[in-house]
Amino acid sequence: MTARTSDIEKAAGVLRAGGLVAFPTETVYGLGANAEDPAAVARVFQVKGRPPSHPLIVHIGGAEQLGDWAENVPATARLLAERFWPGPLTLVLRRGRRVPLEATGGLETVAVRVPGHVVALALLAAFGGGVAAPSANRFGSVSPTTADHVRAELGDAVDFVLDGGPCQVGVESTIVDATGDTPSVLRPGGVTREDLEAVLGRPLAVHSTSRVRVPGQHPSHYAPRARVVLVEPEKVVAEAELAQELGHQVGVLLPPSFAGAAVKAHAVVAVPASMAAYARGLYGFLRELDQRGCDLIVASLPVEEGLGLAIANRLRRAAGPRPAE
Ligand code: TXA
Ligand code: MG
Repeated sequence: MTARTSDIEKAAGVLRAGGLVAFPTETVYGLGANAEDPAAVARVFQVKGRPPSHPLIVHIGGAEQLGDWAENVPATARLLAERFWPGPLTLVLRRGRRVPLEATGGLETVAVRVPGHVVALALLAAFGGGVAAPSANRFGSVSPTTADHVRAELGDAVDFVLDGGPCQVGVESTIVDATGDTPSVLRPGGVTREDLEAVLGRPLAVHSTSRVRVPGQHPSHYAPRARVVLVEPEKVVAEAELAQELGHQVGVLLPPSFAGAAVKAHAVVAVPASMAAYARGLYGFLRELDQRGCDLIVASLPVEEGLGLAIANRLRRAAGPRPAE
């Protein structure tokens, strides 16, 4: 689905006027503001309920603009940009002068990406500048993968929602710290570690706990309302039925190897066998189980290779300890 030209013009106008636009990317929907407008960027933090010390990603229209937004870009970073942009890869680099500290949470580094979505690229072309955008959800909750998710969660707090249909990747971009000679993964995502390693020609470190401020690395992020419990795949059915018997409204993410099993639970979602389909559906499944009134979700981790690494990362964060508990 592609948004109408008039909608793209309207969205670009809203950005120019200092407003907020929710827009589709191939990963998840973003909550965008003119990256060079500190007041607009401040509103993004306010609407999201996100502490202003947590940096945003600056979305740009093409790799050739990288020099405007980042400084001292290492050759390795250029190689990754050339190979994976437009696409679900975010590069952390030295902050260029065009990027206000408000967008980077005060850091001297900046996260940049060129999204692989025709509507996002059309918006960036029409707007002409960089768009600072986190995922268009409230801080800590599940990222939106449809325009309806955005409207349901943020409503009137956004000036314009640009509808580009459901996101095709479904999990956020892979964040690579590319400031030095040895890049490392700060957050697994839509570009797989294996694909990155194939281009770099060497193994890549994946930091599960980072010294940099990455909210996605905190416990209980990407979390639905319902509590999430992770067990071995072969224990999912028994765990779900026990919890249901104990009085919970249990939602189940049923692993593919158990597809078709009868489960005595409140709601069951059969997890697709393809990792690409699972990633695409994951946040929608979690939202659906919330909506159906589940207070507990029982799930298992996929094998942590390919997109399975990002899915497992998000499920672990969803199952992490809650601040209120
Ligand atoms: O796929 C995505 O990346 C989506 C779409 C909208 O582009 N965006 C997204 O943004 O997931 P957000 O804000 O929800 O997550 C971006 C992550 C945050 O965890 C943030 O801390 C990290 O990027 N980040 C941003 N700037 C950084 C920096 N300079 N150093 C380290 N991490 C940074
Ligand atoms: Mg987010």
